[in-house]
Amino acid sequence: RYAKCFSDKHYEIGKIDNKLYSSFTEHLGRSIYSGIYEPGHPTADEKGYRMDVAELVKELGVPVIRYPGGNFVSCYDWHDGIGPKEQRPRRMDYAWATIETNEFGIDEFCQWAEKVGIEPMIAVNLGTGSIKDAGDLVEYCNHPGGTYWSDLRAQNGHPEPYNIKYWCLGNEMEGSWQAGHLSAEDYTKKALEAAKIMRWVDPSIKLVACGSSYEMLPTYLEWDRVMLTELYEQVDYISTHNYTMNAGQGTTNFLAAYKQLDTHIKASAKAVEFVKAKNHFDKDIKICLDEWNVWNFQDIKLDSLDDLAGLTTFEMTSAEKWEVAPSILQEKYSLLDALVVGGLGITLLNNVDTVEIACLAQLINVIAPITTIRNGGIFKQTIYHPFHMLSKYGHGVTMKAVVDAETYNCEFGDLPIVEPAVVYNEETDEVRVFVLNCSQDEDTEFEMELQGYGDKKVKKHLVLNGDDLEARNTFEDPDRVVMKELEVPADSTKVVLPKMSWNIVIYG
Ligand code: AHR
Repeated sequence: RYAKCFSDKHYEIGKIDNKLYSSFTEHLGRSIYSGIYEPGHPTADEKGYRMDVAELVKELGVPVIRYPGGNFVSCYDWHDGIGPKEQRPRRMDYAWATIETNEFGIDEFCQWAEKVGIEPMIAVNLGTGSIKDAGDLVEYCNHPGGTYWSDLRAQNGHPEPYNIKYWCLGNEMEGSWQAGHLSAEDYTKKALEAAKIMRWVDPSIKLVACGSSYEMLPTYLEWDRVMLTELYEQVDYISTHNYTMNAGQGTTNFLAAYKQLDTHIKASAKAVEFVKAKNHFDKDIKICLDEWNVWNFQDIKLDSLDDLAGLTTFEMTSAEKWEVAPSILQEKYSLLDALVVGGLGITLLNNVDTVEIACLAQLINVIAPITTIRNGGIFKQTIYHPFHMLSKYGHGVTMKAVVDAETYNCEFGDLPIVEPAVVYNEETDEVRVFVLNCSQDEDTEFEMELQGYGDKKVKKHLVLNGDDLEARNTFEDPDRVVMKELEVPADSTKVVLPKMSWNIVIYG
């Protein structure tokens, strides 16, 4: 097979914000407890943070991490997680039907973030929580001192404010699975008042409003129209979520999930544009895709996506009720899942004109690129690798790319056999091409025709592929699926993309 891709230096999609490679960690399963935090673990520091985890999070290169949920946040009272640990209450978390010990709270998260060099993005509870709780949390985190909550922060060991910039106004408030779920009208009123108070406390913060995520809900996008009509001028981002599931649709369709994400992002962007135009608003609002990943619901037996309808969130896990940090939602990702994650990353790059923040959901143990063993070791899931390469090489400007290639047929129509994202990095004067080869039977000869970039030839080719699409990494065999570097032809603009592969081809 043969595919040619054209890019002209004059035609840009947009500048890539580093926050495109953010992540998310929720009080869910072993994400926090025996993930980030495990006092007594051989690598734990004096505060109980696992340093083996901290090191991998640093390596992964995530700039921002969203916390503490997710569905969890809508049941969570942040006051429970501050002060002396022995006095913190054990609570029922209704979202995941587990026991929250509250040993880890906002101080522990923000101090961990300082340690690993990431920026927190904090979600406030707009389900069962009040707008006053939200204002108090901003005061606790960001006010310098001399008030009740800011002085309490100092008393709890952190005199300096955390200065948290990014705040989410609730989580998935459009869904009945959310504790304290609201109609679009009621969410709008509550979010507007919360935003007002939060901004009174700290005018410098950036706010993310809940947009709609679930395409099957009757409120899909209509929610965004109603909510943004009132909130547009008060917020900076609209959030949406998108999970991709291998649910018996076959390899061809699963691999083409990048197209579904593309449609999803463009639908949210169109809702934003519609409200902007209709109301003659001036500023732009960017998309915060604050949850995306492959999620195959391996914890439970599902025949199709329809089986999920009507399940409460805790029925989506294998946990017994009211356990502490159970091993739930610990997906074991395959090579095929990693190829799909790579394809989704290509879609993110091709939508940087509207998407500024994107969070891989999640970070540790729960639907995550990093897996830890309780009181034991750590390893990288297959999806770690494409995400790591995106965060390492995906910097600069995404350029428009036109593809001339054979097509294949899938549930999203006829698509070119290769899906590229072309990034120009000015600092290194390199063109970095991320490309998924969907051809299942043959390799594809791939050529770039670059206009206006000077004389550029292939200088590096990294690839993710393998004979066994079901191959998985384990603690015993952690490097079964990794990126490999291929030899490149001398003085050429062409490479061979192996069949079913995700690639980075660097031209310099
Ligand atoms: O990431 C797991 C869950 O997926 C989150 O708690 C929720 O926001 C989404 O439905």
